[in-house]
Amino acid sequence: MKIDIITVFPDMVEAALKVGVLRRAQESGLLLARVHNLRDFAEDKHRTVDDYPYGGGSGMVLKPAPIFNAVRFIMKNDSEQQYVKANRKTPPRVIYLTPQGQTFTQRLAEQLSLESHLILICGRYKGVDERVRQKLVTDEISIGDYVLSGGELPALVLIDAVVRLIPGAIGDYESAQEDSFSGDLLDCPNYTRPAEYDGMKAPEVLLSGHHEKVRKWRRQQSLKRTFERRPELLDTAYLSDEDLSFIESLKSCND
Ligand code: ADE
Repeated sequence: MKIDIITVFPDMVEAALKVGVLRRAQESGLLLARVHNLRDFAEDKHRTVDDYPYGGGSGMVLKPAPIFNAVRFIMKNDSEQQYVKANRKTPPRVIYLTPQGQTFTQRLAEQLSLESHLILICGRYKGVDERVRQKLVTDEISIGDYVLSGGELPALVLIDAVVRLIPGAIGDYESAQEDSFSGDLLDCPNYTRPAEYDGMKAPEVLLSGHHEKVRKWRRQQSLKRTFERRPELLDTAYLSDEDLSFIESLKSCND
């Protein structure tokens, strides 16, 4: 997968790409991440990327030209180098990170992990000129109902969530599938050695070596945790008859 990030703070994004899963995904060739400094696409000698809003008011707006130039540059390189050769021309998703966008979820991360190329535009100040959104942007995404100072951290959140879903990106792909949310439920409690720490014991069943009992315990703990903390997730989760009767037993305990 290729991810291009357009930002006025390239150092901030590059720092996060140098560690952990994102670093390894690049080293193993699963991810080609490129960070572009918006100022490099400005059209004046002062490398201006923002300007006062028409109509007045506080704050600055990111000018259209540098963003259009950056996206055109990325797309031009793209079609010349890869898509034409591979005879596989899927246009990249051009994502603008904004609190006004659709809320980022595990489902959206899964969908995006199937794409071959994402272009992320990080806003700053009062955001981007509206014409960027009208003409260039295919998706507007928010990472939650709070306002950050820019789109860099949201872009990194998105990249991390998406890249770890690419098969091979994390050591144990299984564990991505068992994460909280990936199966519509919250994860079960996890334990590691020692079996007893400071008087607190790990559940016997996990030490039993009995795979079916362990599976059942984990499933029930996931259901219980979801029921207690995020009951609305149960409305859309895929649940077996066994799950449903366990949830009924939880409800009757609460009555
Ligand atoms: N930019 C500022 N706040 C944001 C948010 N919550 N999500 C996405 N982009 C943002």
